[in-house]
Amino acid sequence: MKIFLDTACCDTIRHYADTNMIDGVTTNPSLMAHYAKKTGMTTDAIVNTLAELSNQYPVSVELTGHTIDDMKKQAKKWLDIGPQFVIKLPITHTGLAMCRWLTDTNVRVNMTLCFSVNQAVLAAKAGATYVSPFVGRLDDAGHNGIDLVANIAHVYAQHNTCTEILAASLRHPLHVQNAFLAGAHIVTIVPSLLDKMMDHPMTSAGIALFDKDWSTVCPNTRTTDTYEE
Ligand code: E4P
Repeated sequence: MKIFLDTACCDTIRHYADTNMIDGVTTNPSLMAHYAKKTGMTTDAIVNTLAELSNQYPVSVELTGHTIDDMKKQAKKWLDIGPQFVIKLPITHTGLAMCRWLTDTNVRVNMTLCFSVNQAVLAAKAGATYVSPFVGRLDDAGHNGIDLVANIAHVYAQHNTCTEILAASLRHPLHVQNAFLAGAHIVTIVPSLLDKMMDHPMTSAGIALFDKDWSTVCPNTRTTDTYEE
């Protein structure tokens, strides 16, 4: 069970790193553009800062070219900056061809924008390291994103497929839970969703009660959120 953070912001990734819960990072062109506008950084500068983390985590950066030539140029540029980057590609004719080209040279690939079992089959056949079914976007379109994760997991298990299922576009804690129940190896989530996974009102209420009881016998000490017997 792995958790990736879906963000282009290195500070956010560092902020959550001390939880030891982060196993990787995913970005996409929208996240990059949003962060570039917010910070005034160029996308190249963002890629440079992400490269600092790519030895520690698998960091997915998405190619935006639409032809093999453009994709190769951009992949080369980014792999020169961060040889450990995972290259993210949409599941299209060109994307699949590019996936095979990269995996043949031992570059890890995350095949993204997956909306069907057939696309996941093709991603696996192209040697993808990860396939990213977009759960929330399928739900938005009136389909069942978690069913897709379950069906991919079923087919991959039947055929001993190495490609890992990276459930993406997850919108709420129930999506995360159900993605893992359906057989996802990894979930990628925005930081606020990681907070929601940690938080439970009964945990907060329990801490408040323990603090209150503790203070009746140890008035000058405060309990923290770590508890040791
Ligand atoms: C994952 O790789 C994508 O970046 C992401 O999960 C997309 O999520 P969205 O549908 O909320 O944009």
